Amino acid sequence: MKYQRPRGTADILPGEVEKWQFVENTAREIFKKYQFKEIRTPMFEHYEVIARSVGDTTDIVSKEMYDFYDKGDRHITLRPEGTAPVVRAFVENKLYGPEFPKPYKAYYIGPMFRYERPKAGRLRQFHQLGVEVFGGENPATDVEVMLLALDFYTSLGIKELKLVINSLGDKESRQKYRQGLIDYLTPHYDELSQDSKNRFEKNPLRILDSKDRQDKIIVANAPSILDFLSEKSQNHFDTVKALLDYSGVSFEIDHRMVRGLDYYNDTIFEIMSEAKVFGERVALGGGGRYSGLVEEIGGPETPGVGFGLGFERTLLAIEAEGDTLPLEDSIDVYIVGLGEATNLDSFKLVQAIRHAGFSADRDYMNRGAKAQFKTANRLKAKVVVTIGTEEIEQQVARVKNMASSKEEIVPWTDIYQDFASIYQKITN
Ligand code: HAM
Repeated sequence: MKYQRPRGTADILPGEVEKWQFVENTAREIFKKYQFKEIRTPMFEHYEVIARSVGDTTDIVSKEMYDFYDKGDRHITLRPEGTAPVVRAFVENKLYGPEFPKPYKAYYIGPMFRYERPKAGRLRQFHQLGVEVFGGENPATDVEVMLLALDFYTSLGIKELKLVINSLGDKESRQKYRQGLIDYLTPHYDELSQDSKNRFEKNPLRILDSKDRQDKIIVANAPSILDFLSEKSQNHFDTVKALLDYSGVSFEIDHRMVRGLDYYNDTIFEIMSEAKVFGERVALGGGGRYSGLVEEIGGPETPGVGFGLGFERTLLAIEAEGDTLPLEDSIDVYIVGLGEATNLDSFKLVQAIRHAGFSADRDYMNRGAKAQFKTANRLKAKVVVTIGTEEIEQQVARVKNMASSKEEIVPWTDIYQDFASIYQKITN
């Protein structure tokens, strides 16, 4: 084969795309219930926007960016995630102004790009659904975005989930923790991976997220950030836990979870799946609070909280749990035209039926009756309208209910005038 799609990308073909549409529609309904409005930002951004927000020392920025210099010598990157672009749009369009709702709630659906090693549920072009809430420090928002994500999975039939939470505290908490962590790691410095050595001074928290085996063994006994929380952060985290308890949602606390992006503070969370297809426990989605990010991008101090979840992983989880999506995959009407002479009238009929509001298709290859009925069955047509030379002479069509085999002969004039009544009659 000569041409293949780039590694880590996928063609989403008819047959599969219906699932995507269903999942997307489900998400849009839920976003509406929670009163989020859609935002669409460009698929590429200035490199700085992402590097400053996600963090230079993260894997995403240091290893996985699809960045390049464009013909005007601008440093551009395909977006690896949705939060930084939405924050940039929030600031650039002054969505914090008095004329906008507070908190400002936006959602997005679209492709993201990361140069990662592809495997099940991990691609280089993947798709995220995400929400961001700007303004307000109420821990109820943190919990609402978690519940929104859980509602989304549950309505798709995904039940085998674990909500894992942690707190990264505020600046003050993290400064103290940073020192605690450095003190703990110093005697192990020589055993750390090169990546972790590089991060040791710049961003030691990143070491907790290392994928390196030896690093993982070392950080297993690292001090917990939860022992370093300021009073304010402790209160915030306590309220998050209390609200989760109040909602009857079970959760785990993982004090070593830091997430792969640097902009977080206080609450962070991931929703994990243990479905076998992934080979290991993976995050279907994750998110958290980011208090300093809007300022970092040049806006006024505005706390934010949100999450992003992976479309591809959601679909794998749906399959793993037996896929019960109620997909509509039939058409209303199929036109069978027998003999070349029917071409013109088949053309007129199928258009008239579509304009009457029905999904309809026809034969274009002048096939025999058997082949055309086979196609009608494959398409799960509910009604078949047949014309042949005899029907043309009499200006009628045979209208057949495929489930009951009930058939009626109907004048074309009736079809052109009011196909809906004919359809109603034959299918009832
Ligand atoms: P993230 O954890 O980097 O967070 O990504 C969110 C989700 O995107 C992951 O849980 C996963 O399902 C999916 N994902 C990430 N990388 C890949 C990949 N290479 N292939 C397939 N799926 C992938 C964020 O991106 C944050 N912006 C979330 C957020 C929003 N935090 C606050 N607001």
